[in-house]
Amino acid sequence: MLKGRLTSLRPLERSDLPRFIDGMNAEEVMWHLGPHLPISDREAEAWLERVSTNEDSKIFAICDRDGKMVGELALDRIHHRNRSAELVIAIFDEPDWNRGYGTDALRTLLRFLFEQMSFHRVQLLVHEDNERAIHVYEKLGFVREGRLRDENFRGGRYTASLVMAVLADEFRPDD
Ligand SMILES: CC(C)(COP(=O)(O)OP(=O)(O)OC[C@H]1O[C@@H](n2cnc3c(N)ncnc32)[C@H](O)[C@@H]1OP(=O)(O)O)[C@@H](O)C(=O)NCCC(=O)NCCS
Repeated sequence: MLKGRLTSLRPLERSDLPRFIDGMNAEEVMWHLGPHLPISDREAEAWLERVSTNEDSKIFAICDRDGKMVGELALDRIHHRNRSAELVIAIFDEPDWNRGYGTDALRTLLRFLFEQMSFHRVQLLVHEDNERAIHVYEKLGFVREGRLRDENFRGGRYTASLVMAVLADEFRPDD
């Protein structure tokens, strides 16, 4: 388990799937992450089976201080030679947003990757209008590397996404 100040990260287990499905199917989360079609139990089980046996992915449950799962953090496209990976994060319930969980979970994972695992680069994609997420990423040292025009169709129109990444020596572990 990786321990932060407000959150801890542990591997996502099969028993977490009901909470995971509820969280990922919440309308506000689907809007920011996708949109995607709602995920079924069967799809989630097949996905977890696939990613758990795949060396280039790792999925974490984000837990609060009481051990309650408040979100998920997925590390994907882990590339050992390049020491790089991509990530996706979601705090499931809107009332839990802006409580510091996202920053703390990301900081905890990045600290581990850069300081313990010798990673060099972590990147992500974010919708250009997701100002909260972009603020959090920039606070931790991510920089905007590119803008993908019309990358997503959502809410009846095309919107852009940003490619953001942080290198080991750019990571800002402290507030
Ligand atoms: C994006 C997300 C992971 C951030 O986690 P969080 O726990 O809500 O964020 P935190 O509480 O750690 O930090 C929020 C920060 O954003 C700031 N913020 C809030 N709304 C904002 C806005 N509209 N514009 C700019 N900054 C904003 C807060 O002031 C706070 O910054 P501060 O700590 O410097 O004061 C979380 O809100 C989430 O999962 N949202 C839904 C899914 C999602 O968007 N995932 C990311 C997809 S790329």
